[in-house]
Order: sequence, then C-alpha cells, then structure tokens
Amino acid sequence: MQQFDEKDYTQKFSLSLWKKILRYAKEYHGDLVRLACVMAVTAGCDVVFPLMTTYAIDHFIPALGRPGTMEGMGGFVAAYLGLLLLQVAAIFYFLYLGGKIEVGVCYTIRRQAFRKLQELPFSYYDRMPVGYLMSRMTSDTQRLAETIGWSLLDLAWGVVMLIAASVTMLVLNWKMALIVMLVVPPLAVISWWFQQRILKAYRAVRKTNSKITGAFNEGIMGAKTTKTLVREEMNMEEFTSLTHDMKKSSVRAASLSAVYLPIVVALGSLATAYALWQGGSAVLVGGMTLGVLQAFINYTVQFFEPIRNIANVFAEMQSAQAAAERVLTLLETEPDIVDTPEVEEAFGDNFHPKRENWPALQGDVEFCHVDFQYKEGEKVLSDFNLKVKAGETIALVGPTGAGKSTVVNLICRFYEPTAGEIKIDGVNYKERSQLWLQSNLGYVLQEPRLFSGTIRDNIRYARLDATDEEVEQAARMVNAESFILRMDKGYDTDVGEGGSRLSTGEKQLISFARALLADPRIFVLDEATSSVDTQTEQIIQHAISKVLTGRTSFIIAHRLSTVRTADRILVIDGGRIKEMGTHQELLRRKGAYYNLYTNQFQEEQAMEILGKAE
Ligand SMILES: Nc1ncnc2c1ncn2[C@@H]1O[C@H](COP(=O)(O)OP(=O)(O)O)[C@@H](O)[C@H]1O
Ligand SMILES: [Mg+2]
Repeated sequence: MQQFDEKDYTQKFSLSLWKKILRYAKEYHGDLVRLACVMAVTAGCDVVFPLMTTYAIDHFIPALGRPGTMEGMGGFVAAYLGLLLLQVAAIFYFLYLGGKIEVGVCYTIRRQAFRKLQELPFSYYDRMPVGYLMSRMTSDTQRLAETIGWSLLDLAWGVVMLIAASVTMLVLNWKMALIVMLVVPPLAVISWWFQQRILKAYRAVRKTNSKITGAFNEGIMGAKTTKTLVREEMNMEEFTSLTHDMKKSSVRAASLSAVYLPIVVALGSLATAYALWQGGSAVLVGGMTLGVLQAFINYTVQFFEPIRNIANVFAEMQSAQAAAERVLTLLETEPDIVDTPEVEEAFGDNFHPKRENWPALQGDVEFCHVDFQYKEGEKVLSDFNLKVKAGETIALVGPTGAGKSTVVNLICRFYEPTAGEIKIDGVNYKERSQLWLQSNLGYVLQEPRLFSGTIRDNIRYARLDATDEEVEQAARMVNAESFILRMDKGYDTDVGEGGSRLSTGEKQLISFARALLADPRIFVLDEATSSVDTQTEQIIQHAISKVLTGRTSFIIAHRLSTVRTADRILVIDGGRIKEMGTHQELLRRKGAYYNLYTNQFQEEQAMEILGKAE
C-alpha cells in the first residue's frame, strides 16, 4: 500500500503564517474588519442586557423600603426592544458576513492555487501525487476558509465579551469581581491543556481517516490487480489495523472532551456559588441591591464561555495551520522553468501572451552540448548533439530507459537542459516564451488523455475557435471519421470521464485529430501507437504520414515498422546516439538497428504464421 506520509507541520501557533494566508485573501479584508465590529456590537449587547435587568429589578419591582413604580416603563421597554433589535440585526449580519467570507476566501485561494498549478512545469507533477494535490485544492482550502471566516468571529466576540464583562463587574463590585476573576487563570490553563490534547487526538483521527480513504481508493481502483495477486487477505489486515487506530484515537478524543467539559462547568459553578454567597450576604445587610446581585451572577455564569471560546479558536487555528502551511507551500512554489523578465516583457506570460510579437516558428531544432539530469548526480544525457532541419521526420528507437522520452521532453521544454542549449530556429529557446514554443507543438502520448465532453469538444480543445467543418476535417485527415460516424450521436457522442467509453485506439485517433487541428510546426509522438492493436496501428500509420508532412517531427516507436519511412532514425542507448541514418543505410551497416529490426521482423513473421495456422 503506497502511503504518501506528509511531514508533520509546525505545532506551535504561528501568527506570521496566518498573516501570510490573510494576504492571499486581501479582497476580504474589509469584510473581516466589519465582521470584527459586528461581533463587538453583539458582545456589547450581551453585556448590557443584564444591566437592563438590574435596572428593572431595582427600579420597577417593589422591594424593602421602596414601592414599585411604573414610571419610565415606556422608555425602558423601548430601549430594551431597541437593544434586542440591534442584536438580532447584528447576528443576522455576522452570519451573512461569515458565510460570505468563508465562500469567498475559499474561492479566492482555490483560484490562486489553480492558477499556480497551471503555471507549474511538468517536473512538479512528477514529484507530487495527484491525490495530494487534490486534497490541497479541496479539503485544505475549505478548512482554511472556514477557519478564517468563523474563528475570527468567535475570537472577536470572546475578547470583547471578556473585557466588557470584567470591566462591568469591577465597576459593580470590585472586591467580588476580583474574587470571581481568580478562577480565570486556572481555567485558562486547564482549557489550554485540554484543547491541546483534544486537538492532537483529532489530528490523529484525521490522519488515519485520510489513510483509510487512500486505502479505499487503492482497494477499489486496484481491485483486479489485488485479485490476480491474491492480496485480499493482506489488504484486509492492513485495513483492519488502520480502522483500529482510528477507533483508538476517536475514543481518546471523546474521553478528553468528556472530562474537560465537567471541569469547566464545575469551576464556573464554584465561582457562581461564591458570588451568590458573598453577594447574598451583602444584599441582606443592604450593601448591594438585588438587581446588582442578579447581574453579577449572570456575568459569572457567562464569564467562562468566552474563555472556552478563545481557547477553542486557538486550538482550531493551530489545527488548521497544517492545512494553511500546505496550501501556502503550493501557492509559494516557484516553478523551476520560468521565462526571464525580458522574455515576458517581449512575448507576454502564460495568461497574457503578446502574440503579435511572436516570431513565426519554422521548425529547425538543434541540441548543442546538452547535459540533462532529473536527479543530482544521475546524468541521463551528456554532451548530446543533434541538428534537425525544419520539416524533417526523426525517429528515435532504443531500449526502455535509453533516454528517448527525455530528449523529446527537452524539446517541448517540459524540462530544460542542465548545461548546453537547445535552439529552435537558431535561437536558444529560453530567449522565447514557453507559450510560444508550446503553442507550436503537437504532442501525442502513449496514453491519450481525453476530457469529459463530446468527441467534438475533445478535438476542438486544441483550438477553441475552430469551426465544426475544421474539426471534422481534422478527424477525416486522421481516418477517425469512420468510427466516429458509427457512434450513435456521431461527433456529439459523449466520451465519458477521461474518455472511458472509447477504446484506446479510438482515443488515440481523437488525440491525433486534436493535435492536427492545432496545426503545430513541431510534432512529437511518444510511443503513440504502442498501446493499440495492429489494425488500428495501420490506420494511425496512415494518419501519421499525412499529419507529419511539412512539419518537424519526432517519433518514438517501439514497433519499427512505424519508423521505416522517417528521414533519419536515431538509435539511442544510454543517453547517446549510437547510430544515425535512414532505414536503408542502417540496415546496410548491420549494426544495432539491423539487429533490432531483424529480431522484431522475425518475431512478427512468426506471429503471422502462427496466426494463419489457427
Ligand atoms: N521524471 C523522472 N524522474 C527521474 N528519473 C527519470 C524521470 N523520467 C525518466 N527518468 C530516468 O531517465 C532515464 C531515461 O528515461 P526515458 O527518457 O524515459 O527513457 P525512454 O523513453 O527511452 O524509455 C531512465 O533511467 C529513467 O529512469
Ligand atoms: Mg519513454
């Protein structure tokens, strides 16, 4: 079971991290400030209400030595209703703001992350598993947005409430207030201690949970492989141990909460009891009115809510911090292939290309003393030299791992040479924008990639302004039309997610049509025919020769029948060109190509004879 264990992120609360995240949400800074203000108003109302009650008790209700009165009742009711209305409005507004911030921040961060993903080069996707990126884009951004929207709300309320209630109590009766406040430090410490542990347990739960999701994913995706390898029992055991871990951490989290809450309630009740006792005695001797006592008890009871809230907010932020760090890492990744500022100035960037400045691409390609390595110290190419004229068809053959794909990936600038340079039309391609080159490139891979949508959409993907006629013409050129018209809805047939309703050969034909529609100057086919049957291969073979005329092309093919007609064939081995020439020249040399070819030819002949014998 493959597990992409992440490093454990910073455990300490980090203000600078949150500041950075907030910078990415700068469109919402105004809303955040408004939210804090509204929360202050809400907390203010919470503090004023008990005072209103105090006034009512001490003013309207008859008490020892004072008759009741209705005087001022109208004003009081009006004030009370006004306050109530204010609070209702504030609550309505903060719910609205919180929701708006959550959705908005989530959208903004996702948009920036998605843009980043579009910018990042090929090599980034080599390193990052798809699942990892998916959860960065979905659950992590969601969690961040939630935290930013709602934690800040709790924090603002908690702080204002705490301060306002303390001040009011001190004014009402400072001695009693100080005694009640004695409970605060131990409560804060206890809250902190518990929140930390509860958080840790929940973090473990989440971590195990994502492993379980991963296990589900692999179990489902790999069901066939599992069965053929008879791995069911092993998989089940691994899964059981994961769920067991999950249960353990969940129970721990629940038990901690179960202990924590009663402790807070008990401490709160102690303080309240003390206030009642002291205050009650004071009322009896006339040192305090009943209304004030009521307010005091009210505050004491309410006092612990903000403390718990604030502890909770910090715990919440600390736990969302991992998500924040992961999203930040993504947002701050610097692509290792970038256009220099001068190039960007002249030709525009990926999102704002200055096409009017782009020189037309002819298609001369030259490798000058190119070195390349994926990993430090493991050179794949060294001092690689090759000169290709515009319009030439170059075939690359050789064993797996020889470096054929590396050569074409360098041409496409998915990677850049570590030394030496690659020239297109005589100019180092780093002096032009990436988009310029890639707009002129057609690239067909072994595994064709289609996107959900119709066949027509998929072909048009290469050039969105192509007319239906152009789309159909491209399909005709590559001999794809006959199978397309056989489908029930023709060009408007839905291909399913990733093209799952088509065979590999059909997908491949569509990706040829797509590449052709873009009308690229340079064509790259990396094992494009390896995963289709021989019949489809012949259709594709025809398509290829049509598609390639007049364009510089690089074909990597396993079946040598595909490469016979190339202008030049390169036999690559160990990152070097071992032989180079036309099919005839190389056969005459009786070298590596001759051996490869005769071996394969004999194999094919044998297969054919066997096939006929059946
Ligand atoms: N993304 C990559 N990261 C690290 N090493 C790689 C990567 N792609 C290829 N390699 C290594 O580079 C060498 C050449 O690979 P490649 O160009 O794919 O060969 P070919 O296409 O001829 O089979 C191999 O040793 C391979 O293991
Ligand atoms: Mg390859």
